[in-house]
Amino acid sequence: MKYGYFDDKAREYVITTPKTPLPWINYLGNEDFFSLVSNTCGGYSFYKDAKLLRLTRYRYNNVPFDNNGKYYYINDGHGIWNPGWQPVKTPLDFYECRHGVGYSRFTGKKRGLKAEVLAFVPLGDNCEINRVTITNESEDKRSFKLFSYVEWCLWNADDDMKNFQRLLSCGEVEVKGSAIYHKTEYRERRDHYAFFSVNEKIDGFDTVRDDFLGAYNNNDEPDSVVLQRSNNTLASGWSPIASHQICITLEPGESKSLIFILGYIENPRENKWESYGVINKKPAEELQEKYSTDEAVDKAFSALGDYWDSLLSRYHVESADEKVNRMVNVWNQYQCMVTFNMSRSASYYESGIGRGMGFRDSCQDLLGFVHLIPDRARERILDIAATQFEDGRAYHQYQPLTKKGNSDIGSGFNDDPLWLIACTSAYVRETGDVSILKESVPFDNDDSKAAPLMDHLKRSFDFTATHKGPHGLPLIGRADWNDCLNLNCFSEHPGESFQTFGPSEGPVAESVFIAGMFVKYGEEYAQLAELLGDESEAKRARDEVKKVYEAAITAGWDGEWFVRAYDAHSNKVGSKECEEGQIYIEPQGFCVLAGIGVKEGLAEKALKSVEERLDTKYGVMILQPAYTKYHLELGEVSSYPPGYKENAGIFCHNNPWVSIAETVLGHGDRAFEIYKKTCPAYIEEISDVHCTEPYVYSQMVAGRDAKFFGQGKNSWLTGTAAWTFVNISQYILGVYPTHNGLSINPCVPADFGDFSLTRKYRGAVYNITVKQNGSQSGVKKLIVNGKEISGNVIPYEENVKEYTVEVEM
Ligand code: GLC
Ligand code: GLC
Repeated sequence: MKYGYFDDKAREYVITTPKTPLPWINYLGNEDFFSLVSNTCGGYSFYKDAKLLRLTRYRYNNVPFDNNGKYYYINDGHGIWNPGWQPVKTPLDFYECRHGVGYSRFTGKKRGLKAEVLAFVPLGDNCEINRVTITNESEDKRSFKLFSYVEWCLWNADDDMKNFQRLLSCGEVEVKGSAIYHKTEYRERRDHYAFFSVNEKIDGFDTVRDDFLGAYNNNDEPDSVVLQRSNNTLASGWSPIASHQICITLEPGESKSLIFILGYIENPRENKWESYGVINKKPAEELQEKYSTDEAVDKAFSALGDYWDSLLSRYHVESADEKVNRMVNVWNQYQCMVTFNMSRSASYYESGIGRGMGFRDSCQDLLGFVHLIPDRARERILDIAATQFEDGRAYHQYQPLTKKGNSDIGSGFNDDPLWLIACTSAYVRETGDVSILKESVPFDNDDSKAAPLMDHLKRSFDFTATHKGPHGLPLIGRADWNDCLNLNCFSEHPGESFQTFGPSEGPVAESVFIAGMFVKYGEEYAQLAELLGDESEAKRARDEVKKVYEAAITAGWDGEWFVRAYDAHSNKVGSKECEEGQIYIEPQGFCVLAGIGVKEGLAEKALKSVEERLDTKYGVMILQPAYTKYHLELGEVSSYPPGYKENAGIFCHNNPWVSIAETVLGHGDRAFEIYKKTCPAYIEEISDVHCTEPYVYSQMVAGRDAKFFGQGKNSWLTGTAAWTFVNISQYILGVYPTHNGLSINPCVPADFGDFSLTRKYRGAVYNITVKQNGSQSGVKKLIVNGKEISGNVIPYEENVKEYTVEVEM
């Protein structure tokens, strides 16, 4: 069952009923100001950091799931309704939500009135614009009242939901004209405030939540809206809100638009005040003025469209499969941008107060983002590297506002350091900008301990090379990519976090997955060393890689597949010897994509085993058989009920690893089959089973052992976005950036058909056409600007700005 459809031309997903199985959300904002917005106008806004600078309040863990947002209420004299249906939930005569790239549009109709809301964050300004357009589609003249509503968050979202004894006495506002200003804590250490304004004279306002709602009401029946009067009261403590009241009369056919702005302003400390106790509103008023006309809003909106046109033109495919085109050209890249912006901080499953920018997460997000805006990727790489410790280890996350690492969700995950090599290599291959390797970057954000980025990578590499266990495999530390494989933890009491409890390091437990990473990124590190002319470092690296490769195909091999790990007692994890959890997906995917066991014939076997033991119609499960008991020696992985999360869920993130691995072996049919299983556009038809948004990936789909097999969870903020984009764009469609130029090596299903691609790369445009000839892999002929070349790599030449590339498979 579907709840909408793709409008490919408009790059929108059109939701046709508000009653989706879960809130289906979108993200607004490209730089510093962000909003989450659901298909019923729920959500919240923040500046830079969802925890530290939250602008509007959201209610987690509430019923209904999606509670609080930017709401517009219309009281037309016969009843109250919202254009986005919630919170009043009056059945609408027509409802539509269009989620597009960086904007959402809502249309609701009731009793002859049509209300449209266009919501977006303009480029270059710290605000969200909501243009509300109301049209009288009836035959009669209509008079009605419109009320807006946002509830302020008292800045630190974590404190806001805990520290009532203090914060309920802190709230402060000002009202001037049609703008309501939220200035809590401005009198003391904050130099910022927020405002909610409208470009129209208002007929009343509310800033005291209990006055607006009534002390015992929820936001589905606010007193002010029901009684059709605002209180015009100024908040002092408690919960400040911003609500405008506007009386409107429309002739038949007449329309009226109102431009609401939610803005964030930072003032220079010496210029905070206009007069004693009165905030300096000048910058806010300038912003309100800037977007006070429809023309200005139209212009900003079309600039946003142009911005996305230009970003998305950097990789564009035309194939016979419209779902591939739709995901590659719009949604997958869009989600990569969102994961780049948010990491794992703010979604409807990430509260914005728990996790921030993950070290490994953000490094991987970059893999799917680096082609979009290389300069921002560069800055991010340097920010992440600056949180690394001198011995190569890493904090597991940092806060976006401060950019400082913290151990709130643990540290000592031994895969973390290697991901820094992965994203740096991707950046240099994309741009050719070797200078990044020479940038001086602090350790642990301490400038006195700075070293060139290449030195950080060396320490990443050496950390693994010098932390090996009894089998010569890398030590796992607190866990590797699989946060839940806690082999040194041994937690016996509820409430102990598996990621922070116990020692972060043990001298015995080893990871075959990290071995796969070391082989892949060790080679990429060696290539970077070569670029810098350091042949001996490259050789040293390759020698180290060789050792780990050997360990992986010996101690890391179980007969039919790769072992997952060795636990703290040196027992195998993910082996036929185990009672539960005999095979895990990660080492199969990652070792094979790193090339381990290909020439020895092990890779074929490993992927066969994956197909036989882990595959389902909804994707490849992370392990089998699921753990039915809690294993003290394994930790969190065995804590989840069978079929969920890391315990035999379909963890979408590592499905592309297996798909890429299949392309390494030239299996186009199978690679694509795996790609399709978790790809949102292909499972749109089962939205009632899948439940999450049909336009983005979810972190997890419940596995075969779960009660709700096929149900998605944790949509949006997942490394799946980046890895599937890498998979489809670089391996399946086969356009892979190397240090010397683009390599062309598609691996597609036999019946895929011919396709063409545009790729912008290092300032040049590549127009690529592929004649597939029913072949799954292998390039027979490569003609570049009329000349046939040998090999797969189109040599990059600085002065050639356009390449016509003809490929025959
Ligand atoms: C989550 C985490 C990621 C981890 C994965 C597997 O997606 O954000 O860091 O690798 O789970 O545990
Ligand atoms: C990842 C895992 C999750 C685990 C968490 C701990 O998100 O997916 O299962 O609880 O990391 O930080």
